[in-house]
Amino acid sequence: MSRVLGLRDLTFFGIAAIIGGGIFSSVGKACSEGGPGVIWLFLICAVACGFAALCYAEFASRIPVSGSAYTYAYASFGELFAWIIGWALIMEYSIGNIYIAFSWSGYVTHMLDAFNFHLPRWLTVDYRTASRVASQISSLATLTTDQNDALIAWNNAPKIAGLRMIFDAPAVLINILVTILVYRGVKESKTVSNAMVMLKLIIIIAVIIVGAFYIDIENYTPFNPSGMTGIMAGVSAVFFTYIGFDAVSTLAEESKNPARDLPKGMFYSLLICTVLYVLISLVLTGMVPFSLLNVDDPLAFALQYKGVHWLEYIVGASAIIAMTGVLLVFQMGQPRIWMSMSRDGLLPKQFSRIHPKFKTPGFSTVMTGVVVGLPIFFTDEAFVLDFTSIGTIFAFVLVCGGVLLLPRRDKSEEKGFRLWYINGKWLFAGLVLISASLVVLFVPKYINEVAYGEGAFMYVVSHRILWLLLGTLTVFTWFKNWNLIPLLGVAICLYLLTGMTLENWKWFGLWFLIGIIFYLSYGRRKSKLNEA
Ligand code: ALA
Repeated sequence: MSRVLGLRDLTFFGIAAIIGGGIFSSVGKACSEGGPGVIWLFLICAVACGFAALCYAEFASRIPVSGSAYTYAYASFGELFAWIIGWALIMEYSIGNIYIAFSWSGYVTHMLDAFNFHLPRWLTVDYRTASRVASQISSLATLTTDQNDALIAWNNAPKIAGLRMIFDAPAVLINILVTILVYRGVKESKTVSNAMVMLKLIIIIAVIIVGAFYIDIENYTPFNPSGMTGIMAGVSAVFFTYIGFDAVSTLAEESKNPARDLPKGMFYSLLICTVLYVLISLVLTGMVPFSLLNVDDPLAFALQYKGVHWLEYIVGASAIIAMTGVLLVFQMGQPRIWMSMSRDGLLPKQFSRIHPKFKTPGFSTVMTGVVVGLPIFFTDEAFVLDFTSIGTIFAFVLVCGGVLLLPRRDKSEEKGFRLWYINGKWLFAGLVLISASLVVLFVPKYINEVAYGEGAFMYVVSHRILWLLLGTLTVFTWFKNWNLIPLLGVAICLYLLTGMTLENWKWFGLWFLIGIIFYLSYGRRKSKLNEA
């Protein structure tokens, strides 16, 4: 591979992978839970991703091959750890794409509506959402536009053998199209991808500037309408908007100066996106009362709400193009990870077979299409959003944790990016103690949390586990002088995980159980490491 990519290209590549279904869609859900105060969560997630980016950069510079977290884990810690990361990455790549396909469909449906072409609602909504809205109808005071569509779908769907035929047809369609494109081998041209990034940036900046004129200041009071719990309820939705920056580290072999540019590229793309995300959430929650924002296409919706139709249509069309781009990036990424796993013996050989004509990993690509496509029929957006975020945060915990355990490098090995070493012995213990004291002093009810209704059980349990883990890390750091940077990465990601519900953890557990069974019955026997 030739080294052609500079810092600007890497930053652009980062933005290309980051800006997609998140800011065009899931941000609405986050705003509807936390109100304008959701900006704090954007900042916390940005910091978590920043630390994870440093750890990715450290791995990328130590292991001189292009790869994802999977490759690094395999090279540093062997097959079991690598398998767990590879399994978690399926949640990031494939499950993430299910969410984007749903969001894509949301924008397409609403664009068609705007041009008076109305698809039957039972072909635009997923089954679970329709049935949930129908069952909750008596307890819902007002319906968002999307809930209204779901209700119409439920009431009007044709039935076959008593079963309502409700599924998200545009989401299924885009997945098939993207799979065909990737199967035949789309050439990622730098020009097209850079043009796409420019388009996304211009659109988002336009919404910020134009939207700013339509802000009603009253919408900002109260700024944190449902407190920290409400803000944290948006954790999956917000975290999702940042997923993708890690893809920059896969370009190690193609960049001119990876040591300098990889970490910078990840940082700049994160920084640019953070600024835009914070501004967009302020504009959205300023334009529309936050509780109305739980829709598939919040950006277009806010403009429609204020009657700015000319921009609404431009935003709609651009979002559709932008999300198609992100779908392609992830749909190409997944088969490549499976290819590496298959070469290492952890997956069957078919997964690394290259199509003779198209020169793409054909079988893996089709499997990705199936893994993304089938769940569209029986999951819903909220579920896949939580699932993909919990899996990715978990993968980040492992990446940061992995860096903690890497042997420290010799001073003479000056090649490549080196993560600064800051001894965490006193600092980490100090930080944990200070945060604990602040919480006890200023949030007394934190210790005896019962007031949060449905989520309270998980809230209490997950926070206790968080402190237990922080305590354990402190003790280990005390004896092993661990580096503060990856430690903070682990700590913040663990904090984000406290925003997950019991339901999320159950599914996550099930997923890993299946993964471990697969590993024990296949990967462990066939792994190339065992042959050596
Ligand atoms: N961050 C990516 C997106 O928002 C996954 O689409």
